[in-house]
Amino acid sequence: MRTQVAIIGAGPAGLMLGHLLHLRGIDSVILENRSRDYVIERVRAGVLEQGTVDLMTSTGVGDRLRREGMRHDGIHLAFNGRRHRIDMAELTGGRAITIYGQNEVVKDLIDARLETGRPLHFEVGSVTPSRLTDDTPVVSFTQDGEQHELLCDFVAGCDGFHGVCRTVIPSSHLTAYEREYPFGWLGILAHAAPSSDELVYSNHPRGFALFSMRSPQVTRLYLQCAPDENLDEWPDERIWDELRQRLSTDDGWRPNEGEIFQKAVTGMRSFVVEPMRFERLFLAGDAAHIVPPTGAKGLNLAMADVNRLAHAFAEFYQSNREDGLDAYSDRGLRRTWRAQRFSWWMTTMLHRPPDESAFDHKRQLAELDYLVSSRAAMTSLAENYVGMPFDD
Ligand code: FAD
Ligand code: PHB
Repeated sequence: MRTQVAIIGAGPAGLMLGHLLHLRGIDSVILENRSRDYVIERVRAGVLEQGTVDLMTSTGVGDRLRREGMRHDGIHLAFNGRRHRIDMAELTGGRAITIYGQNEVVKDLIDARLETGRPLHFEVGSVTPSRLTDDTPVVSFTQDGEQHELLCDFVAGCDGFHGVCRTVIPSSHLTAYEREYPFGWLGILAHAAPSSDELVYSNHPRGFALFSMRSPQVTRLYLQCAPDENLDEWPDERIWDELRQRLSTDDGWRPNEGEIFQKAVTGMRSFVVEPMRFERLFLAGDAAHIVPPTGAKGLNLAMADVNRLAHAFAEFYQSNREDGLDAYSDRGLRRTWRAQRFSWWMTTMLHRPPDESAFDHKRQLAELDYLVSSRAAMTSLAENYVGMPFDD
């Protein structure tokens, strides 16, 4: 088997890269170790930056997003019993976010890929990239018990944080920067109409909580918990009780309740590996960096990476120029570190670490108070939250 770009991983990064390469007439093979249903049903992100929406729309995969996505011009920050609205669109010259589940993005990209007839293989095993310093790298893998070799010009490592691609890079060529947080999120989906048109991020003495949504019938909610929280200790009634306490505000607002149909706990970490390239292997998305979800940046960073990478490949194949490929890592890291800073800031401003001192808590509240009363501070939050324009 031979292709131009071997893409490992069919999450948002790998699928979008395959789509962008297809539009430029560049051949690729996508290899994914999970099943199609597993990839589609994995419940994760929900907030799309303007740049992600624009990318999907301009490349022909935005029809359902346009119909079903929920555009939000603002968000609320809640503390001391009050909700404060940040009007992001007004502060950023009309930019906004759109609520559209990551699994819907993945579904739309898989449909687009299947329509092109280009290869997308699910449930492959033992995926191993090698010969990365040669002109023709190889990706070996198994499928239905048979061993295969895929020869290519480049390998795109879009296989997420636990993937194989980062691990095949010699450690002497990589520097990793990491921070773990002493808490996680317990997330649920419930059949309940969202009781607010916009998201609510709450700093509460009992811990952080977040109100979000997926559709006019489905509410998405998160609670700060221990990183290794045992879900068995969280019957539905305990979850609602905790959410009610952390999210209700003095104006009588609280989330609507309904049947919980999905529950999961996620840990939180910040992670960056430098550089994002080793010879003919390019890392993109969570394979290269992880942000805590409080800033809603992970999926969007992945999209910005593959947009830049697709441009660089196109330049290489059309004009035999390598400047885009050479600049890929530095430009990606610049965006990544800005997103890291923002996600870390949102996280530390809104969560209660287990060892928080009374001083820290007062300082946090003062920061929130300043934020919601200063147009300059709100503008800074808004421009980061809606996301910087994508570069290419
Ligand atoms: P992934 O989605 O992890 O995809 C990698 C793919 O590679 C997977 O399908 C995996 O099965 C496959 N794979 C792994 N190893 C191999 C292998 N060896 N061989 C072949 N295939 C392999 N981001 C936002 O922007 N906004 C949000 O609101 C947001 N909320 C979040 C909420 C939660 C609770 C969580 C957990 C995450 C959230 N994120 C959010 C982050 C976002 O989900 C990720 O950043 C995003 O999934 C990254 O996409 P990716 O394609 O890089 O990686
Ligand atoms: C979500 O809706 O899943 C969501 C919203 C905002 C975040 C993270 C996740 O910061």
